[in-house]
Amino acid sequence: MTSPIRRPLIAGNWKMHLTLAQSVDLAKAVCDATKDSPAEVAVCVPFTALTVVSAVVKGTHVRLGGQNLYWEPQGAFTGEVSAGQLVDAGATHVIIGHSERRRLFGDTDEAVNRKLKAALAAKLIPIVCVGETLDERQSNQTFRVLETQMAGGLKGFAPADVSSVVVAYEPVWAIGTGVTATPAQAQEAHLFLRKQAAKLYGEGFAAGLRLLYGGSVTAENVDNLMAQPDLDGALVGGASLKAPAFARIARFQVEAKA
Ligand code: PGA
Repeated sequence: MTSPIRRPLIAGNWKMHLTLAQSVDLAKAVCDATKDSPAEVAVCVPFTALTVVSAVVKGTHVRLGGQNLYWEPQGAFTGEVSAGQLVDAGATHVIIGHSERRRLFGDTDEAVNRKLKAALAAKLIPIVCVGETLDERQSNQTFRVLETQMAGGLKGFAPADVSSVVVAYEPVWAIGTGVTATPAQAQEAHLFLRKQAAKLYGEGFAAGLRLLYGGSVTAENVDNLMAQPDLDGALVGGASLKAPAFARIARFQVEAKA
């Protein structure tokens, strides 16, 4: 179970799903169904749904996130959305460097670093994603990849500036595949990431850093994953599109202890 100094975060990543009407319905259902969750709960929605979902979650315990941002504050950047625009639309969180962004849209560690800087400057809580592909795992490159992505993405800040950063370990082979990392595999990677965090910004930062696991998290496997000492929450794709499943994930502690 996660340390008492790290409040668990359960974040849904709706990816490119749902109409506005469906988004409103799901957001309402998530607000109702996660009321008793001891974790911080967030939904990361498509840009177009931010304002309507913001109106639903306003004044509730549910937080709102974007799924990406661009690092410039404004200008001629067709198709992009800035950190300030996310905040203006009601977001408090933002996912950065998701593997789908890295793989399909060319986000590099340098881009992740710039986006992180912009997110922190706008006081958004960034969820920075890292993770190895199946090839990399099979060729024993997992730790090297995690080290590179952590160091590249998080480099160049003052320790005080990164205190809100959340890192999500998302093995690419587990995302949307139904193949989840075993609790032991996840714990091993999380422990490694916490050690990298200590190298970058010291033990205090590492001890407070929330490390989420993502990749085929379900209502059925969440308790075993969250029982690991270095797992502080989950970034949930597919299972976040159904309020009952997502709520069960967000209630992991309560039900695990019962
Ligand atoms: P999944 O997605 O839960 O559908 O595997 C997780 C993610 O991509 O964040």
